[in-house]
Amino acid sequence: NGAVRVNMSNVDSPLQIFVRAKKKINDIFVEIDDYVKDAVTFMHAVTGENGIATPQDLANVEAYVSKVQAIREVLKRDHMKVAFFGRTSNGKSTVINAMLHDKILPSGIGHTTNCFLQVEGSDNDEAFLRTDGSEEKLNVQSVSQLGHALCASRLQECSLVHVYWPRELCALLRDDVVLVDSPGVDVTPNLDEWIDKYCLDADVFVLVANAESTLMVTEKNFFHKVSTKISQPNIFILNNRWDASASEPEYLDQVRTQHANRCVDFLSRELRVCSPKEAEERIFFISAKEALLTRMREREKPVSSPILAEGHQVRYFEFVDFERKFEECISKSAVRTKFAQHSRRGKNIAAEVMAALEVVYNTATDQKAAKVEKQRVLHEQLSAIEDQLTTITRQMKDKINRMVESVEHKVSLTLSQ
Ligand code: GTP
Ligand code: MG
Repeated sequence: NGAVRVNMSNVDSPLQIFVRAKKKINDIFVEIDDYVKDAVTFMHAVTGENGIATPQDLANVEAYVSKVQAIREVLKRDHMKVAFFGRTSNGKSTVINAMLHDKILPSGIGHTTNCFLQVEGSDNDEAFLRTDGSEEKLNVQSVSQLGHALCASRLQECSLVHVYWPRELCALLRDDVVLVDSPGVDVTPNLDEWIDKYCLDADVFVLVANAESTLMVTEKNFFHKVSTKISQPNIFILNNRWDASASEPEYLDQVRTQHANRCVDFLSRELRVCSPKEAEERIFFISAKEALLTRMREREKPVSSPILAEGHQVRYFEFVDFERKFEECISKSAVRTKFAQHSRRGKNIAAEVMAALEVVYNTATDQKAAKVEKQRVLHEQLSAIEDQLTTITRQMKDKINRMVESVEHKVSLTLSQ
């Protein structure tokens, strides 16, 4: 079907930082699960009539089973999320398609993307769509209707469509990256709602700017809002449509410097999300259209083949460079935000179950000590009785002796008379 498998051995990818950490923490939670279940078995054995633990103690420990289960469910589904924003037609959908190596999302001139489209790997390797809140699997072709502003069946702009795409066709999806496409920030007044719904759990934001013009106030305002709600968001800026510079080579360097300065200034001085030095590493000059075309050709997909403009290879390398820096950033950030909290929680659960077992252990020890004490007291009482008996016996003996002596005395007196 023309689908070429991507190289499966991506052990060098920075995304592996996340993939390995995820595997490790999932394995640890399997162990915590076993430990908690063992504790429950033990508690069952020591609860009941004459038992050391109360039914409440047992219930307390049993509650951890579902807690651990819930965390394991979340961990299994944990992913890295990147959201793309920018003005209409800057090329957000094209950038995502280029990263996915295929034309999956609708793109085109005019206002195209009409709602939020979230691309994620499908577990059973089939391609399908699902609107948020519904379980119905829709044909993947319908993305061009549901998500397209020009179609009658289009959804509301703040609604979400999940696009499931076979993991084996894309390295990003296989390694649990989820990509969110959005309508242009200039087509809606509801930016706050967007941020609350789709941005709060994003690990990385990509601002797709138009290198043919410059950063716009609407784009800046959007990220100002984002940075009031999220502390230190990770933001990349793609100056897209940089192929346009090929037709004006005499100003190329100056325009690039102008864009770069404004972007650095925006990230470091306006938003204060990073230092100027770090900001330089977050800004790229690319052509998503060329990158997508190059990749479609690599995969022998039928594409119209315009001649690429001068410098396309350099722009393509910069796109690849962006992807690598992005992968590094997103995987480190996701590990920090998603797993740090869970590993703390796992540690606490282990400690709390241990404490519950210790209470039972202490009760058992106390009961044993009480028994020993009871025996000691009994023993003392017995000794006292024994002592009394000895005394009494001795007194009796004396008394008898005296009686015998007195009888003997009387007898001898009688005899001598
Ligand atoms: P909306 O969904 O409407 O907000 O737009 P978008 O930001 O998703 O842009 P889209 O990817 O749909 O691209 C808009 C048009 O620009 C399409 O016709 C693309 O082919 C074209 N385009 C995208 N990237 C580039 C680029 O780097 N260079 C050139 N020359 N055209 C591009
Ligand atoms: Mg779009």
